[in-house]
Amino acid sequence: MPLWSVTGGNELTGSLAVQGSKNAVLPILAASVVGGGVSRITDCPLLRDVDASLEILRFLGCGVMQNRGEILIQSDGMSRNHIPHALMLKMRSSVMYLGAILARCGEVRLSAPGGCELGSRPIDLHLKALAALGAEISEAGGEVCCRAAQLKGAHINLDFPSVGATENVMLAACAAEGTTVLTNAAREPEIVDLQSFLNAKGASIRGAGTSEIRIDGFAPVPYTEHSVLPDRIAAATYLCAAAAAGGDIRLTHAVPEHLETVLSALRQMGCAIVVDADGIRLRRFGPMRAGRPVITRPYPGFPTDAQALLMAASLRAEGTNVFVENIFESRFRHVPELRRFGADVRVEGRVAMVCGVKTLYGAPVTATDLRGGAAMVLAGLSAEGETQVFDSGHIERGYERFDECLRALGADVKRLEDPQG
Ligand code: EPU
Repeated sequence: MPLWSVTGGNELTGSLAVQGSKNAVLPILAASVVGGGVSRITDCPLLRDVDASLEILRFLGCGVMQNRGEILIQSDGMSRNHIPHALMLKMRSSVMYLGAILARCGEVRLSAPGGCELGSRPIDLHLKALAALGAEISEAGGEVCCRAAQLKGAHINLDFPSVGATENVMLAACAAEGTTVLTNAAREPEIVDLQSFLNAKGASIRGAGTSEIRIDGFAPVPYTEHSVLPDRIAAATYLCAAAAAGGDIRLTHAVPEHLETVLSALRQMGCAIVVDADGIRLRRFGPMRAGRPVITRPYPGFPTDAQALLMAASLRAEGTNVFVENIFESRFRHVPELRRFGADVRVEGRVAMVCGVKTLYGAPVTATDLRGGAAMVLAGLSAEGETQVFDSGHIERGYERFDECLRALGADVKRLEDPQG
């Protein structure tokens, strides 16, 4: 398993092109089975979660070819409608295959993705929505089975704007007779990207990016091309890295409109940020200071995925920064690890308070989850001495060539193999 060695003290400078979006490409890979045909997906990030999804597609009987950031999927030969537990376990978002396989085959069986590092992460909203489309749902032996001779369009209102449930409804409703109207839908940019991909495949979907999405059926086309949108959380990560370490960086292949709350929080904390046609430039030479409370909410609110990253950048800020986590029940698991650097962070329920300290000291720490792991690397960049991040592979689930990208900006980061496994 990887071990990241970070020696703090270098300011970051230079330019970096942001990778394609993990959370956009994962539902798109699942969507490639809807209606069959060939899909060519470009700007695909090279990630462990992407590998896990390609493994599922191969198991299902699809032909898959990968050449760097380009993936070709031939799904006409799909011959299975279930996913074994071992493949489901590799990533949470395999749950997207529920709606996709149901739309394709009229039946799907997979093991529930279950609890994971961010809390219990149930799929009740997904199942309730699929039942509203006419799927018969049964659960036995740790597996969920959804079956429908013919899905039927329906009006579905989500109790909470879940990203995954919104995506599963879009996927399943492609095969429904009549119109589906989804209200209180999640509005994340990744959902807009899924709409673009499905529409290119022959679906008729409108409204993604707003809280009401209409799905009006599907006339499959044999060949689809799609380029994945830039990863807003990877962009936030590199911006927070430069905020933590200081310096002057430019990100290209980034969409500033997708990052408004993150840019605004970084500005309040003392970063100079300029957005232009070429991307985003962030400079931070003076001290960081406390900004307004950071409250995570569904998009367009502050993203929960960037909470640990901004917290890592705030550890040495003057004053007290407050973080309120509203999306996941266990998303402060990085806090005890941040304290190992000498950071002063206190947690009370959903609220974390960071009182800035003058100096952080490199330490051996553990990556608790994907973003928590990246946060450890960021804290290491602004700490004195060496930090070792023991990581059971979390960081590579979501970041492409993380060490190389940071080194290109001047950071002293190495990816080693942990001799203990
Ligand atoms: N929830 C339920 N029931 C459900 C579904 C969700 O209670 O049926 C709850 C969850 O437990 C959570 C909240 O609703 O407390 C939000 O969950 P959501 O369904 O919106 O999240 P997700 O689809 O599981 C995606 C991203 C996450 C990101 C969240 C929130 C992908 C592959 N994953 O997860 O990304 O944090 O939306 O924005 O798109 C990451 O990239 O590090 C990551 C965890």
